[in-house]
Amino acid sequence: MTSNETLIGTARAMVAPGKGILAVDESTATCTKRFAEFGIESTETSRRDYREMMFRAPGIGEYVSGAILYDETIRQHAADGTPIVDVLNDAGVMPGIKVDTGAKPLAGAPGETITEGLDGLRKRLAEYREIGARFTKWRAVLRVSAEIPSRYCIETNAHALGRYAALAQEAGLVPIVEPEVLMDGDHDVQRCRVVTEQMLRSTFEQLSAQRVLLEGVVLKPNMVIAGRDCPEQATSDEIAELTLKTLRDCVPAEVPGIAFLSGGQTGEEACTNLDAMVRGGDLPWELTYSFGRALQQPALQIWGGSHVAEAQVALLHRARMSSLARSGRYAAGEELASTDSSQV
Ligand code: 13P
Repeated sequence: MTSNETLIGTARAMVAPGKGILAVDESTATCTKRFAEFGIESTETSRRDYREMMFRAPGIGEYVSGAILYDETIRQHAADGTPIVDVLNDAGVMPGIKVDTGAKPLAGAPGETITEGLDGLRKRLAEYREIGARFTKWRAVLRVSAEIPSRYCIETNAHALGRYAALAQEAGLVPIVEPEVLMDGDHDVQRCRVVTEQMLRSTFEQLSAQRVLLEGVVLKPNMVIAGRDCPEQATSDEIAELTLKTLRDCVPAEVPGIAFLSGGQTGEEACTNLDAMVRGGDLPWELTYSFGRALQQPALQIWGGSHVAEAQVALLHRARMSSLARSGRYAAGEELASTDSSQV
């Protein structure tokens, strides 16, 4: 198989019908913060146990094609000594890795960030591939107000996404390209649409300029949604319509799949919105999920450090709901029908 065929095959498998991606690549600092909300101590072992609980949820591979890991996790072994990448592969879940090193203040641009991690990236990618990663993720972060994001912030972040994606493909790893317009703030849905469009256009200009194979990329965008503090929230039909219009205007048909982040929406909200988009129908790309919080939150709350089986039920429930949504078959009634653990 040529390297392009490998990339295309992996990208298509990541967005295969019925499946989506589990994002569990929280940095140690973010994971510690999320654990603290439920009084869970964050240690190398507790972070491993939490993630192992998810990867060993029976049948997770039915709904999840790949899991995005953090550097600490991809090097870890399960409690019984099995490498975590083997636990995932045995479950039919491809291991992936976050390779950016975080969003840092952008020089001369108060309130804006640039995502770092390009220095030494070629070497790190080769190592991750050796460990067993099949794909990678890089997240650009755009904060919204009336004044920002600036053209400067959009273009520098899009350029970095292009450099990352080209290097990932050179290493035989599919790049998940994530330009995230944050939900934080009181901007309305139209402001989110404008910023999302600007960022997606700039991102695809850079991917083309930097000779990235679009057939071997997965786009991970935000949904077009009003800021959390905006008094006027859009309905799911409006969110679906505006998101699809923006994506149709900006995302080339060669891209095999678009996997949304949840960005702070609840699992139910994210599923309702994804389902409305899939029902909108006749799209050139697969539309699916790459949720973090919208898949994990109920499981984390229940896990509490030791309730493994109950937490797995909660995770599988959200994974099944997300899978139904990406197939256009989600309905609120499903939430009730399968909270009964005997159904999972
Ligand atoms: P959320 O779905 O919680 O936004 O996380 C997805 C992710 O990977 C953010 O980079």
